[in-house]
Amino acid sequence: MNNQAVLNHPLVQHHLSILRDKSTPPQLFRTQIHLISMLIAAEATKDLKLQECRIQTPIEEMTGRKLAQRISIVPILRAGLGLVDPILQLLPDAEVWHLGMYRDETTALPVEYYCKLPKDSPADVGIVLDPMLATGGSIRVAIAALKRWGVPDIRVISVIASENGIAALNAEYPDVNVFVGAVDPILNVNKFIVPGLGDAGDRMFNTRHA
Ligand code: PRP
Repeated sequence: MNNQAVLNHPLVQHHLSILRDKSTPPQLFRTQIHLISMLIAAEATKDLKLQECRIQTPIEEMTGRKLAQRISIVPILRAGLGLVDPILQLLPDAEVWHLGMYRDETTALPVEYYCKLPKDSPADVGIVLDPMLATGGSIRVAIAALKRWGVPDIRVISVIASENGIAALNAEYPDVNVFVGAVDPILNVNKFIVPGLGDAGDRMFNTRHA
């Protein structure tokens, strides 16, 4: 499908293998999320619009180009927070709008606990950030919120998706482009991605319980 890109870049695959490894400690896990997010973001932003600007180099004046659109990034709490800093390094003028959601352990359905998107003039581009796209329920709720806000160009940056989750997202939102580092084949009975990497939020924030 052309609205979905899996980054087969060797650096993404290399850093994903470190990320997935259960012996990877939290600080390295966060570093890997950071690196992978930047690599995926380069692909997810490659068609952003530019406008010309005049700049003065140490040698002479020239016409440069800078980003022309109003861009919002929308991390899904908690694990989406790990993608904010790397994406902001690339898009320093982006707005950040947080969405709070957790998956109910029994139903695996997303429960929203925080959403404060503004009601006035929508951004030109909205980029949803969540490292895990399992059933896709959480990201679909985020996309629905951006659509209610009126964002015309919605993209998703995720690290690992499941085949089922991607298919459900594509079916509901064929206009939304999804950029991921890997698509894994299975969702287990608890709706965890297999082989996946476990619980991204817990590994990122060191809140794993034995
Ligand atoms: C996890 C993950 C995603 C969501 C993916 O969040 O970080 O947000 O589940 O599942 P889905 O595609 O089936 O909706 P979790 O509920 O563990 O919350 P957390 O990020 O606060 O740990």
